[in-house]
Amino acid sequence: THVVDEAFDASVTDRLAIIEEELVKAAVADSPFVTEAARHIIDAGGKRFRPLLVILGSHFGAEVDEKDLVRAALVVELTHVASLYHDDVMDDADMRRGAPSANRRWDNSIAILVGDYLFARASTTVADLGTDYVRLQAETFARLVQGQIAETRGPQEGDDPLDHYLQVVADKTGSLIATSAVFGGMVAGASDEVLTALDAFGEEIGVVFQLSDDIIDITSTVTGKTPGTDLREGVPTLPTLMLQASMDPADEPLKQLIASDLSDDDKLSETLAALRAHRVIDQARREVQRHADLALSHLAPLPEGHAKTALAKICNDLVSRSV
Ligand code: FPP
Ligand code: MG
Ligand code: MG
Repeated sequence: THVVDEAFDASVTDRLAIIEEELVKAAVADSPFVTEAARHIIDAGGKRFRPLLVILGSHFGAEVDEKDLVRAALVVELTHVASLYHDDVMDDADMRRGAPSANRRWDNSIAILVGDYLFARASTTVADLGTDYVRLQAETFARLVQGQIAETRGPQEGDDPLDHYLQVVADKTGSLIATSAVFGGMVAGASDEVLTALDAFGEEIGVVFQLSDDIIDITSTVTGKTPGTDLREGVPTLPTLMLQASMDPADEPLKQLIASDLSDDDKLSETLAALRAHRVIDQARREVQRHADLALSHLAPLPEGHAKTALAKICNDLVSRSV
């Protein structure tokens, strides 16, 4: 069963398979240990969402350079994976994609350095693409890091917590997704107008992706996923930030419950149940839909075709996913 069109889907799948092979090769290092550690999170899988966007973006140019397309996909996925090695150190994570995170399997120093190694591999590949790509890659890296710093520090005096959060999400997630779509356009020689549209679309679906993830943390009851992980850790999410912004005195008890220690399982379940029944969930869903509509509006200047259909479908799937 095809998603967009049989031949179109097959070409996307073929390209993803080539990228997958190259990704594993890109992780090879001078020693078997570094190769194994660098492959650890690559082998654990992942949606390869960024490579997919490179492929789809490349449909909006006159002619695709296949070698450059694979390079561009490697650059964004290697950068993403590198950032995950670092992220898991900062979040003191236990698991990543169903496998022990690198910081657990080895230690923090190894995880940081292997992340650096993968970022170095991305840099070698981006060098082959040329200075325009190097510049955009560097600017994206700067945004990723600044988003992560802003998240680490939290909102400062005078910052609106929700605005601060949306900026963090746009920087640490939206920026690299936007660059993935833009790189796709670039390897196909797309016009500046197209690149601008791909950039705006990519950034916005990055925001949609994170915000829908935030809702799922609270609403998911599917086994295999632990609901309330963010809630327990006190990680700000769209619904909890919306609740904290509420002026309604009736919301005070729940606000205080959310701000309290939720390490007790029963207390967490009680808090989750109260949140699920609260109007902020619907309010958050509307906010996700608003960002999705914004993302779709950025597709308007792009020519109709299978690639545009696929991009719109990705956006709509992100909104309606429940796991
Ligand atoms: C996941 O967020 C982390 C990111 C989206 C990017 C983090 C960025 C850096 C660590 C800086 C960039 C570093 C390099 C080497 C490129 P999350 O913790 O909210 O999500 P999770 O559930 O996947 O852990
Ligand atoms: Mg994390
Ligand atoms: Mg993090």
